[in-house]
Order: sequence, then structure tokens, then C-alpha cells
Amino acid sequence: MNIIITGASKGLGKSIAEIFAADKQGHSFFICARNSNELENTAKELQGRFPRTSMHAIACDVADRQSVNGFVKQVLQITDRIDVLVNNAGIFYPGSVHNEAEGTLEKMIEVNLYGAYHLTRLLLPYMMKVKSGHIFNICSIASLAAYENGGAYSISKFALYGFSKNLREEMKPYNIKVTHVLPGAAYTDSWSGSNIDTARIMEAADVAKMIYAAAHLSPQACVEEIIIRPQLGDL
Ligand SMILES: NC(=O)c1ccc[n+]([C@@H]2O[C@H](COP(=O)([O-])OP(=O)(O)OC[C@H]3O[C@@H](n4cnc5c(N)ncnc54)[C@H](OP(=O)(O)O)[C@@H]3O)[C@@H](O)[C@H]2O)c1
Repeated sequence: MNIIITGASKGLGKSIAEIFAADKQGHSFFICARNSNELENTAKELQGRFPRTSMHAIACDVADRQSVNGFVKQVLQITDRIDVLVNNAGIFYPGSVHNEAEGTLEKMIEVNLYGAYHLTRLLLPYMMKVKSGHIFNICSIASLAAYENGGAYSISKFALYGFSKNLREEMKPYNIKVTHVLPGAAYTDSWSGSNIDTARIMEAADVAKMIYAAAHLSPQACVEEIIIRPQLGDL
């Protein structure tokens, strides 16, 4: 399979890459993040651990249209067959609507919504032509309800969920599956320094396992939504 994962240098994105990379048959991965050193290191690590894979690390800022265009151009130089697209890249600045810094909403919408929207739109024609593929949009439980310090992040994730739901309806006749992934807290770099008890929240691999399972159903089945929370509930 040809698998594109945004924001895959660490965290959930890397975990999702790892679980697919462990497949015996080997896949081609196109992974992106802004920090090219970290991205290269991740690609080298995964390539070493899973020699059957082919890792293409392409630095890209999903909030930047030119950068997204360049990313897609590089993918298309290698293949125009996209089997799995995971729109995972995202940022989280805690805050509240009434007091978060000016521009917080814009920044978060640019990465968390526009990134997925524009990348997907560039790739859809190739997927629609062959009537196949599976798109996972990494939303959040912050897409479902307001919560303390959610602010602009929660707004951007509600919007991403709206995008994903519309896409699901549109893509039915094209045989393209769309899955909205709504995780609660899962331990990644975004939690480092927070003093969180790692046993209280999920592992990144928990989310990756659900995505992997959803990608392996019969062609006629589509998991529309994955809601996954820590056993003790949200923090
Ligand atoms: N962890 C959780 O508890 C949790 C819960 C619900 C939803 N989520 C969602 O899951 C996704 C991944 O979160 P995470 O916790 O794994 O975060 P993370 O550990 O901070 O990793 C984020 C990844 O995205 C990349 N990235 C950030 N901004 C980017 C941009 N503009 N363009 C391209 N890549 C970018 C980062 O690399 P660079 O910084 O080098 O670009 C990194 O590879 C996010 O959408 C997040 O909202 C996470």
C-alpha cells in the first residue's frame, strides 16, 4: 500500500506509521512534518526496524499552501496511487475564547483544518479516478464537546470533524472510505512536561491499533467514527 501520514515524526502519527510498517508485505510511506531533522531521524529509524518498508520523508508545513503543493508534487513523482491518507498533523495551544492570544484561532484553523482540507483536495482526484482509498482524519474528543482550556483548539477540531463528515458523504459513490478518529488523551510529546500520570491516559499505540483495524475490514464496510477515551474517562 501507499500510505501518507502528516505529522509523523513523533506522537500519534509515528505510532500509526509503526503499526502499518510492521506488516510483512511492506508498504511505501510518505511522511511529513516541519522539522526535517526529526522527520529524517524517524524515517531512518522506521526503515531500519522495518526493512521491507520504503520510507519517503518530505518536510512540509501543512498550514502553508505552497509547502502542501510541493509535498503532493513529490509524492506524485513516485506514485499517484494513494491507499491510505492520514490527516494527523495538528497543534494544540491551551486557552479560552475570552482570553487566548489574538491569532490563536487563525493559527490552529490553518494547521488543524486547512492542512487536512487542502492536502485532501489535492489528492482526491487521483483516489476518485481509481475509486479506492481510505482517509482518516484525526479529530479529537474536543470535536464533540466543549472542555476547559479547549478554546480555539476545540473550535478547529469541531471544524475538522465537520470536514470529515462531509467528505464521508461525498466519497460514498467513489468507494473511498472516510473515518473520523476522535481520541481522548493519549501520551505523546504534546504531553511531555505536563506531569501527567502515563497510566491515567491512553498510549499512542491504542489509537494506532484502532486505525489499523479499521483499515483492514471488507471493502463493503466503513468504520465511520472511532471514539476512544482513557478507561477512567476524560481528564
Ligand atoms: N495526544 C493526544 O492526547 C491527542 C488527543 C486527541 C487528538 N490528538 C490529535 O492527534 C494529532 C497528533 O497529536 P500528537 O499528540 O501526536 O502531537 P505531537 O506529539 O505534538 O506530534 C505532532 C506531529 O505533527 C507535526 N506537525 C505539527 N504541526 C505541523 C504542521 N504545521 N505541518 C506538518 N506537520 C506538523 C509535528 O512535527 P513538527 O513540529 O516538526 O511539524 C509532529 O510530527 C493532532 O492532530 C492532535 O490534535 C491528540
